Amino acid sequence: MDDQEPVPESIGREALTMRIITLFAIAVALSAAVGAVGPRLPLGLDLYRPVPSDNRLTPAKIALGRRLFFDRRLSRDGSLSCAGCHDPKRALTDGRVVAQGIGGAMGNRNTPIIVNRAWGAAFFFDGRAATLEQLALQPVLNPGELGMSPEAVLSLLHARYRPQFRSTFDAEPSLELAARALASYLRTIVDGDSPFDRYAAGDRSALSESAQRGLKLFQGKAGCGQCHAGPNLTDEEFHNTGIAWRTGTLTDEGRFAVTHTAADRGAFKTPTLREISRTAPYMHDGSFSTLAEVIEYYDSGGQKNPALDPKLRPLHLTPVEKRDILGFLGALDGRIQK
Ligand code: HEC
Ligand code: HEC
Repeated sequence: MDDQEPVPESIGREALTMRIITLFAIAVALSAAVGAVGPRLPLGLDLYRPVPSDNRLTPAKIALGRRLFFDRRLSRDGSLSCAGCHDPKRALTDGRVVAQGIGGAMGNRNTPIIVNRAWGAAFFFDGRAATLEQLALQPVLNPGELGMSPEAVLSLLHARYRPQFRSTFDAEPSLELAARALASYLRTIVDGDSPFDRYAAGDRSALSESAQRGLKLFQGKAGCGQCHAGPNLTDEEFHNTGIAWRTGTLTDEGRFAVTHTAADRGAFKTPTLREISRTAPYMHDGSFSTLAEVIEYYDSGGQKNPALDPKLRPLHLTPVEKRDILGFLGALDGRIQK
């Protein structure tokens, strides 16, 4: 049993030291890779930002995507840009019940906040876009949003952006490359460093007593954290919370339009709750104007319907508990970097 050569202590130590040095080098390389493009990710976000291997982040791509995002010439009548609806002054939303496109065209859904989308799994309330590259030009070509034709986009890109495409991609402008640039910019819109993040990082004074009780309720008795989970307060999954049934009939099929599965009828993607106090009105149809109404709705167990998520049930929250949850939601306002 004892015939094994004991490893001399010094070698063991040397190997350990080497391992520590290697780990340290990896950590430095990783943080350099993270920091290489754009500023450091804020507190509370997973430091690994997923980026597809065929569309790596580069400063030039991000800058081009950013210009496109703010360019009103990307709309048919020159009146609206992405930022016209995803307004940086309103936490990247528009304050409207449902979005309004060019010529006053009313959409059917509320404009969502678009932070931390690099970590998203599928996009839009029904998840019909699988990647940000797939999503990026849909608002531009949607007749109810920016209303451009593919030809008009191409001629704008050629007339105004040719040098940028050549220096960024070493190629002539194309719709595909424009989508890559926009997707890259979207991946750099990050939001963290809220009182909740500081609390989670160990600063016990970051949340008031009430907000701390609210956090416990959120993750416990009220069950919110079953769906609003993780650093982005979303499981990136689809749930039927009954909102589309509030009039008694189904007003929006939601996820069903993509999957054609009965269980997905009226299911929507769980939204992030970051900056939630700043992004009223709420839900895919903008049907709640305050967070107090949202909490009342969940407390009631949600609108009954054939596919209501079983996680929703009457909560019997006391008035103080409702106020505590509200206090916690207020602690999700942080800093948006864009
Ligand atoms: C007319 C207002 C409007 C304009 C203009 C607009 N959006 Fe949106 N955006 C919306 C609405 C409404 C949704 C939700 C639509 C849905 O779920 O069906 C949305 C959804 C998104 C999402 C998905 C968020 C998620 O988590 O699923 C992203 C990303 C996005 N928009 C980026 C953009 C970009 C990039 C542009 C410009 C090319 C743009 N938007 C232009 C209103 C707008
Ligand atoms: C079964 C999963 C689930 C549970 C449990 C849940 N939510 Fe949600 N939440 C969602 C989904 C899905 C939506 C989007 C519904 C829609 O737009 O129709 C949503 C929307 C919201 C919104 C509106 C977000 C916005 O930007 O419009 C708020 C606020 C919210 N939930 C807070 C809570 C709170 C607080 C609780 C606990 C009391 C809770 N949620 C429990 C899945 C859930």
